[in-house]
Amino acid sequence: MNHLISPSILASDFGNLERDIKMLNNSDADWIHFDVMDGMFVPNISFGFPLLSVVKKHATKPIDVHLMIVDPDRYIEQFAKGGASVITVHFEACTHLNRTVNAIKDLGCKAGVALNPHTPVGFLEDIIEYLDLVLIMSVNPGFGGQKFIANTYKKLRELKKLSSGRNSKLYIEVDGGVDDSNSLKLIDAGANVLVAGNSVFSAKDQPAAIRSLKHPR
Ligand code: DX5
Ligand code: ZN
Repeated sequence: MNHLISPSILASDFGNLERDIKMLNNSDADWIHFDVMDGMFVPNISFGFPLLSVVKKHATKPIDVHLMIVDPDRYIEQFAKGGASVITVHFEACTHLNRTVNAIKDLGCKAGVALNPHTPVGFLEDIIEYLDLVLIMSVNPGFGGQKFIANTYKKLRELKKLSSGRNSKLYIEVDGGVDDSNSLKLIDAGANVLVAGNSVFSAKDQPAAIRSLKHPR
């Protein structure tokens, strides 16, 4: 599968959100990454339903919701009804992950599970067949613009190994510190969805930044 690009609107200009979403609509972006932080699971608060409705109103591409929140089951239905196509919950935030994943799928969304940098890929051994997506965090979640953690390559290779044969259609997403310096290596290691916040929105030519992640050299 050709890899997908999911720019994170956490790094966009909220004062010009409509403009930035329209830029994404007209770019090589495949999905729009929507980072929800609750100030409990992560030490930062980002945004929630009011902003999702603005994104949904303008976006022509699937919305890829990343829930960095405690006990996400409470809000899955509201995110699905609010327009999410993909809903990713954190492994570390779910007591009954199998139930949570089924709930996401029953609402008609793709179900993803995110792993913090310290969480072993092997913890997914007994759920890998049921997942549409696994998100490997390549920074500690909570903030954009952080430094990429190199151990990510090893985790991507392990995930590729775990999923091949058992779930060959799995989306393998990597999130945090992704830019032109590591995109090709990440794809080589097994990633097929690249999330990028700062490297896209701090660029002078944002569509060009997305294009170069989509066509790395
Ligand atoms: C971090 C978020 C990321 C963030 C990535 O907690 O999950 O999606 O927006 O931002 P960059 O690409 O700037 O590291
Ligand atoms: Zn994210």
